[in-house]
Amino acid sequence: MDALIQQIADCKAEMAQFDSQQPDAAEVFRIRYLGTKGVVKSLMGEMKQVAPDQRKEMGQRMNELKVLAEQQWEQLKEQQQAAPVAGVDTIDRTLPGTTLTAGTRHPLSIVRNEIVSIFRRLGFAVAEGPEIEDDWHNFGAMNLPEDHPARDMQDTFYIQQQPAWLLRTHTSSVQARVMEQQKPPIRVICPGRVYRNETISARAHCFFHQVEGLYIDEQVSFADLKQTLYFFVQEMFGSSVKVRFRPSYFPFTEPSAEMDISCLICSGKGCNICKHSGWVEILGSGMVHPSVLENFSIDPNKYTGFAFGMGIERITQLKFQINDLRLYSQNDIRFLQQFTGVV
Ligand code: DAH
Repeated sequence: MDALIQQIADCKAEMAQFDSQQPDAAEVFRIRYLGTKGVVKSLMGEMKQVAPDQRKEMGQRMNELKVLAEQQWEQLKEQQQAAPVAGVDTIDRTLPGTTLTAGTRHPLSIVRNEIVSIFRRLGFAVAEGPEIEDDWHNFGAMNLPEDHPARDMQDTFYIQQQPAWLLRTHTSSVQARVMEQQKPPIRVICPGRVYRNETISARAHCFFHQVEGLYIDEQVSFADLKQTLYFFVQEMFGSSVKVRFRPSYFPFTEPSAEMDISCLICSGKGCNICKHSGWVEILGSGMVHPSVLENFSIDPNKYTGFAFGMGIERITQLKFQINDLRLYSQNDIRFLQQFTGVV
C-alpha cells in the first residue's frame, strides 16, 4: 500500500519534470503515461493488490493522477498547435510590405538623355560608333595631320601600332562613320564614351563622355549653328543663361568657335568653377572643314555643315554642381542615391 502511494508520488514528480520542448512532446507524453501500456494504466493494475478497505482511498489517488496526466497532455497539445510548424505558412498577410528602394539613373545618363531629347526635338537622329577605332576614323578623316599633337602616345591609348588601333579620343570619329554611310541631308547627334591618357584627378580622367553633333545640308550657315546651340542651352539650363562664342581652332572645322555660358554657380559674379571670369566653356564647334566633306565625297561647293562636341561630365557638373570628376566612376552609393527620382 505504502509502496503504491510512493509510486504515484514518483509518477507525479516525473510528470512535472517532463520535457515539453522535445519534438512531438504531446504524443510522447500520451504514450508514456496514458497509453495502454502507459505508467498510469500499469499503476491502475496494481489496484488488485490493494486491500478492499483501502480501495476507495487508493481509487481517489489513482483518479487524481489520471486527471493530472490528462490535463498535462491537453496543455502539451495546445502548446504544439500555437507553435509555428516548419513548412506551414504562418505569414501575416495583413502586415504592410517592405518597400523596395528604386534604382537610380547615373547622373551622366540623366544628362545624356536630356541632351539627346533636346536635339531630337530639333530633328537630330542618334548615331553611335565603336569605342575601338582605327587611325582613319579618329584622326585622318577628321583632318588631323600625321604630326598633330593629339596623336601623341601621351594622349591616345593605342591598342596596336601597325596598323593603328586605338581607343577613340573623341566622338568626332562617329561623324566620319556617319558621313561614310549617309548622304546629305545629315542631322545626327552621337553620344558616347571617349578615352585619353590623362592622370586621374578631380579635373581629368582617362575616360569621359561626349555628345557630338553634325548637320550637313545645302545652305547651312554659322547662324544656324549659333541658333541651334543657343536653343540647346536655354532648354538645358533655362532662359536666363547667356552665351558667347569665342574664335578657336579645330582641324575639322573652319571657322571654329568655343561656346561659353554665363556661370550657373555664381550667376556671373565669379567663383572657382568659372575661375572668377563669370563664364564657363561648354563646347567646341564650327563649320565642317571642306577637306572633311571631300574625304567622304560630299561636294563642299554644294553642301555646308556645322559640327559641335561637348563633354557630358562638364554639363553634369554645372547642372548638379559636382566638382570632382572621380565621383562619376567611384560607384559610391551615397553619391548615386542623391539622384533618386531625377528622371
Ligand atoms: N572633338 C573635340 C574634342 O574632343 C570637340 C569638338 C570640337 C567636336 C569642335 C566638334 C567640333 O565636332 O566641331 O575636344
